[in-house]
This record gives sequence, C-alpha cells and structure tokens, in this order.
Amino acid sequence: SILEKGILMGAPPIVTTNPNSLEAQAKKVMPRKGWEYIKGGAGESSTMDANRLAFRQWKIVPRVLTPTTPRDLSTTLLGEKYDTPVLMAPIGVQSWFHPDKEVGTATACANLRVPYTLSTAASTNIEELVEKVPQGPKWFQLYWPLDEEITASILARAKSNGFKVLVVTLDTWTLAWRPYDLDPASVPFFVGEGDDVGFNDPVFRRKFAERTDGETPEESLVQAGMYWCSEVFPGVSRSWEDLKILKRYWDGPMVLKGVLSVDDAELAVKHGMDGIIVSTHGGRQLDGAIGTLDALPEIADAVGSRITVLVDSGIRTGADILKAIALGAKGVFLGRPVVYGLGINGRAGAEAVIAGLLADFDLTMGFAGAKTIQDIKPSLLTKVSHPG
Ligand code: FNR
Repeated sequence: SILEKGILMGAPPIVTTNPNSLEAQAKKVMPRKGWEYIKGGAGESSTMDANRLAFRQWKIVPRVLTPTTPRDLSTTLLGEKYDTPVLMAPIGVQSWFHPDKEVGTATACANLRVPYTLSTAASTNIEELVEKVPQGPKWFQLYWPLDEEITASILARAKSNGFKVLVVTLDTWTLAWRPYDLDPASVPFFVGEGDDVGFNDPVFRRKFAERTDGETPEESLVQAGMYWCSEVFPGVSRSWEDLKILKRYWDGPMVLKGVLSVDDAELAVKHGMDGIIVSTHGGRQLDGAIGTLDALPEIADAVGSRITVLVDSGIRTGADILKAIALGAKGVFLGRPVVYGLGINGRAGAEAVIAGLLADFDLTMGFAGAKTIQDIKPSLLTKVSHPG
C-alpha cells in the first residue's frame, strides 16, 4: 500500500513532510549549479512566497466519527484511471541535480504509478527515457519552438513513444530574470556536456548543420544551446489562434500550463483544450503574480465542469494536495520536493519523497473524513486571515 511505501525504502532518512528540512538536506549535497537553478524564484521571489501563503490561508475542518478505511485515492484524468490524483511536474535538465537525472525521477514515478511529465528541456531525450523507463504513464511537456518543422518533429516523437497527454507551457516564451541566473558569482547557467536538452531531434540537427556548415550540436554545444534557446524561449508570445498549429500535430489530450486568469481559462475551453494547469511555474516566471491557490477556486468554478483543471506551484505536504483538490483541482503536480529528493539520493530519494507525500495525503484524507477523492469537498476547508 501507499502507506507501506511511505517507509523510506533504503534511502537515508528524509523528513518527507517537512519541506524545510528536505530543502536544507538538498542544499548540503546537490551540485551548486543544480542548487542555484532549482532554488531560485524570479525577482524577489514574491510569487514563490504567495504560493505558500495561499496554502496556509486555507485550513482543513476535519470530520470525526466518519469511517474512512479503506481509502480509495484513485481518480480519472483525461480518460485514464490513475491510482492517485498526484502527478510529477515537468522539470528540465535534471542531470544538474544528480546523475540519475530524469531516468531516476521517472523510475521513481513508475514504481509508484505516478504519471511522469517529461520536459522539452530534459537532459534525457524522449527515446532514452522510454528505453530506460518503459513502464509507467507518461505525459510530455512542450516548450513550443518557433519553427513549425521542429515542433512537428518533437510532437511526432513524443506520440510514437507513447506519451499520452501534451502539456503546453505558455508562461515561459522568454526566461524571467532570476537572480541566481544573473549573478556573476553563481555557476554559469548554461548547458554542458551530457545535457541533451533535445539536441537529438533529427530536424533540429539538420537545421543546425545547415547553419554551421555541417557541425553537430555535440561539436558546438554553446552555439547549439543558443540556437535551441532562440527556438524554445524566442522572446515572442504565441496567440490563441496559433493553437491550431499544435492541433495539426497532436490529436491526443492537450493541456495548457501556466493559466492564472478566469478569462484565459474560458479561452482555453473556447479553443478546444482538454485541460489547464493553474501554475506560476513555481514562482520562476512573473514575479508579483497571484499565488496559484488564490487563482484556483474562481477558475475551477468557471470551467471545472467543462475541462480538467490541474494545479501546481507550492505543493509541499499531503494537506496541500487535499486543499488543492477541495478547491477544484482534479490533479496536483509535485515539483521541487521530488527533485530535492533526487539530489539527496537519486532515484531512491525521489521515490522516498513521492511515497512520503502520497502517504501524507492518504493520512490527511483519513483525518479530514474523506474516504474517496470525491469526498474532498470545499466544505472541508475554511479561509482564515491569520496564516500560520
Ligand atoms: C521547472 N518548471 C518547468 N516547467 C515546465 O513546463 N518545463 C520545464 O522544463 C520546467 N523546468 C523547471 C525546472 C526547475 C528547476 C523548477 C523548480 C521548475 C516548473 C514546474 O513544472 C512546476 O510548475 C513548478 O516546479 C511548481 O512549483 P514548485 O511546487 O516546484 O515550487
């Protein structure tokens, strides 16, 4: 059971439900470049703070004498049944955190039957990931290249390798100013040897060779990195009309990541999207943006009966997962905590963190009086004005 899996499975002790302790342990052992990359929020990190504050302003009002065993955490998302409503968020260049990289995190997810979302900016390419981790449900996250041929090629590879859902990230058409990235005292923020970030795409390779008189990305990493960034973070935003382009190349479920406004949620419905992820990108993009849990209730009320509303940013405990579901999310993505686990102890560390959070969620449901996911209703929560 999930509760048994909550026991740490050979990993060194990780206090999985205490985010501060997890972060402190990760800081001690992670390569500095990885630590500076993951830790950072944009600007003064006010949105990172808002994400946490929003969770703390909601409190659970538990019910007693309500039998909640055995509990059933299963749920259906976009036509697929999953064991729990918990998913893994797309996180790029995981080779910066631990040599187990995406293969470690995806294996941890597969072992716990948590859907894994592979990033376009992953240091493990689509084919390598599927070869090394054939088991477990997988979603693919797109940083949308300017070049339609490259886009088509990436989507065709994701599809033929069995990725079920396409997550299109919309809040990162250019990179925000993150102090660690800009600080000359930090480890330079750039791809290095072994950080594939998608360079194996055949169309990208052909176009790179055309620009460089036949060089491969491996022979000219810096130039390849610059070309890649100019495609996936081009500095110009797409429009709603452009979603038609993606629909030409992807016929499965499509989910927009980074939606924070009710108007945009309505536009996502209008443009035939299957879901949205209410997300601040972990406070790494627009600093000053609304915290995700502050945005979620209104969005879920407006569109939750028509499309699948998912959420990420700031989820650190089982109680956070329950609160997000009570406020209308159908699924909840884990981000930094899992990668801290990866940094601490590779695959086993990531698995211990996910298992711990699932067990914590299960226990929280029990205490709150919820036997199934459908029992997690808004009436389980109240908003307070003294977050603590
Ligand atoms: C991210 N995130 C992200 N999102 C995405 O769509 N593609 C990506 O490649 C990445 N890469 C990435 C790297 C790192 C180091 C972090 C911390 C985040 C955002 C991610 O999917 C998710 O929105 C946040 O991680 C959620 O916030 P918390 O809960 O991790 O704070």
